[in-house]
Amino acid sequence: MAYLTVNDGVKQFATFRALNGVSIAVERGEFFTLLGPSGCGKTTLLRAIAGFNDLSSGSIMLDGKDLRAIPPHKRDIGMVFQDYAVFPHLSVFDNVAFGLKPRKVPAEQIKTRVAEALSAVHLQALAERLPAAMSGGQQQRIGLARAMVINPQLLLMDEPLSNLDAKLRIELREEIRDIQKRVDIATIYVTHDQEEALAISDRICVMSAGHIEQIGTPQQIYGDPQTLFVANFVGTLNTLVAGEGLSRLLADLGLGRAAAHWTVRPERLSLVESGATAPVGAVVVSGTVNKFTYLGREAHVLVDTAAGPVVVQVSNPALGAVRNPGDTVSVLFERNALMAFDADGKRLSLEG
Ligand SMILES: Nc1ncnc2c1ncn2[C@@H]1O[C@H](COP(=O)(O)OP(=O)(O)OP(=O)(O)O)[C@@H](O)[C@H]1O
Ligand SMILES: [Mg+2]
Repeated sequence: MAYLTVNDGVKQFATFRALNGVSIAVERGEFFTLLGPSGCGKTTLLRAIAGFNDLSSGSIMLDGKDLRAIPPHKRDIGMVFQDYAVFPHLSVFDNVAFGLKPRKVPAEQIKTRVAEALSAVHLQALAERLPAAMSGGQQQRIGLARAMVINPQLLLMDEPLSNLDAKLRIELREEIRDIQKRVDIATIYVTHDQEEALAISDRICVMSAGHIEQIGTPQQIYGDPQTLFVANFVGTLNTLVAGEGLSRLLADLGLGRAAAHWTVRPERLSLVESGATAPVGAVVVSGTVNKFTYLGREAHVLVDTAAGPVVVQVSNPALGAVRNPGDTVSVLFERNALMAFDADGKRLSLEG
């Protein structure tokens, strides 16, 4: 049995069901991320695990114990929030020590444990400072040290980086991942930033409207999405437009199956020389450039084709790679790059 399991968790607020039968299993030492749009139930699930609001039904087991039977302050869980929740009138040291007070830890031990926690987040030199004199990133590290100092069985983090600027977010997310691996505490991390989730997680749980769409490694979630929702939410996606042009493309690719949605990612398409012959398992479709967006390490070329408008991603665009609206171009579609979904958004295999 996994270290932490939530089984068939339901949370019913008056007339609104925020969690509708959610089940997860998190392993010891795992970095497990809840990813999904605003309102999908991420915080609700985290708060149920922390004990701030109980589930309406379902079970939560941590290391063999029924968590729902344990009051929140007796659960051995560290939590980091979006707003740093530091006490402005307490020094960094006292902020971190705060979590140990109700646990009746002897003063000598408090000293060593706070020092360890501060060193883990690289704040040991600032122990005597007041938080007001610190940056957002440093304040969030205080929050992290305070959550870790109790040696929790589980670490919960609810969008800890969302108040930081883009560059600091990337720095601190790398740090959080390193610290988590070093202290080896099972962690549930909430974000609605897909890139952050891909960068930081052992596994990602993609949620939508109170239910789970898919759980998998970052590679599985991005590279092998099982639903149209996941494919759309994580990464970018071209949805081909039904019609004669699409039927022709599918026929040329030898794709005979019926599907409600045909999609392809921009980086799986490429521009080729006009008149180029397609390799086996691929076809070349001509189109007209609608828009060219240069992004430095890549460019996005929006091309109108018979199967609808598609974005083609060009990596390392050289100066000569610029395309102008109205240019005729050839787009290479590979059979294996296409993803098919049924009317309910469930992924279909390409065969059949
Ligand atoms: N106390 C409450 N009473 C009624 N509805 C609630 C309550 N708390 C949350 N909800 C609703 O439950 C849904 C899920 O909320 P939750 O905070 O879990 O979303 P979230 O995924 O964390 O979103 P965000 O990314 O915006 O933080 C929302 O529609 C929210 O309005
Ligand atoms: Mg939330």
